[in-house]
Amino acid sequence: MKKIISVVGARPQFIKLASVSKEIRKYFNEIIVHTGQHYDYNMSKSFFDELGIPKPDYDLEVGSGNPGYQMAQILMKFEDILLQEKPDLVVVFGDTNSTAAAAICAAKNNFLVAHVEAGLRENNKFVPEEVNKLLTDAISDIFFSPTDTGVNNLVREGKSENVHNTGDVGIDLIVKNQAKIEASASILTRYNLVPNEYFYATCHRAENTDKKENLEGILRVFCEVGKQVIFPMHPRTKKSIEKFGLQDMLSSKNIICVDPIGFFDTQCLIKNAYMCLTDSGGVIKETYFHKVPGIIIDTQTEWIETVSEGWNILCGPNFEKIMYAIDHFTKPEIHTNCVGNGTAAAQIVEYLRKFLSKPNE
Ligand code: UD1
Repeated sequence: MKKIISVVGARPQFIKLASVSKEIRKYFNEIIVHTGQHYDYNMSKSFFDELGIPKPDYDLEVGSGNPGYQMAQILMKFEDILLQEKPDLVVVFGDTNSTAAAAICAAKNNFLVAHVEAGLRENNKFVPEEVNKLLTDAISDIFFSPTDTGVNNLVREGKSENVHNTGDVGIDLIVKNQAKIEASASILTRYNLVPNEYFYATCHRAENTDKKENLEGILRVFCEVGKQVIFPMHPRTKKSIEKFGLQDMLSSKNIICVDPIGFFDTQCLIKNAYMCLTDSGGVIKETYFHKVPGIIIDTQTEWIETVSEGWNILCGPNFEKIMYAIDHFTKPEIHTNCVGNGTAAAQIVEYLRKFLSKPNE
């Protein structure tokens, strides 16, 4: 059996791995490496437990730090594993520091790299994830993009071979677990939420958490939006709110501020929301999938199709724009399921089988 190493490190990657790992294990020997970029229980282990992801074979325990530190730690520690395990291929997911560092390490040691969620671009090099996207795609050997736009970006950048639109692997998990999402309805009663009468909100992008005026504008929206807002708070955001002394804004009666929530409860909250307010790439595509209007509190998104179809509106962290978009939103008639239909992981593994059975590869 050929050997594949899957590398994950941050919350959205555990979700992507959940679908892909199941398929990989049907045909390959899979080794899972956790970089340790996310380490809090409710940002990491809780997802492995909830989604039935096998325990990682290696944990690099890199923890928090500046990108250079985080990536250097991964480069050094992952190299030892690569040289020992000698995989036939390394799979990386998404666009975090863990993605780019693992891809660079594998490529520098002459191992093949597959990128799940390839080709997405925000066209702004000052977004930390954009640099990770560009670096990873520059050195990957096979590309799995969730959208046509992603494929077109790769082709425009000169990648003509081994580029596939498979849809998004996170959507697989939603499609296959509808019953579990329905069964999560107790989360609504736990927080006294009435379907279609509350906002689901997330905020963690550096641009929003590291600038006081942006964070303050976003929290002001939560306070003044006129409905309940359930706000599962990322640790980065919590630290920034404390640093900028904005805690009082969270005491507004309509805001329900909670620790990060599991995957199925989150899908239940999104599905039943009146609208989502988010800067998370994951939530942007999930709110689209559930046909719930989304207000993007970021100035760009890689999930551009969801904006073109009118399900998400790009507002940036701008109070007036966000409030206007909320007040004037009309649900579009068109919905093409452009982010995937639940078969992404199976397609990816089929392509990998063909790719790895080619002679001399
Ligand atoms: C990372 C990814 C981002 C992804 C997000 C999902 C990069 C550049 N960004 O952002 O693409 O959408 O994960 O969550 O890789 N922290 C904790 N506990 C944890 C994890 C983080 O307290 O379990 C704190 C640390 O203080 C850390 C800060 O959050 O300094 C930011 O964490 P980091 O891993 O640098 O990036 P994220 O903001 O989580």
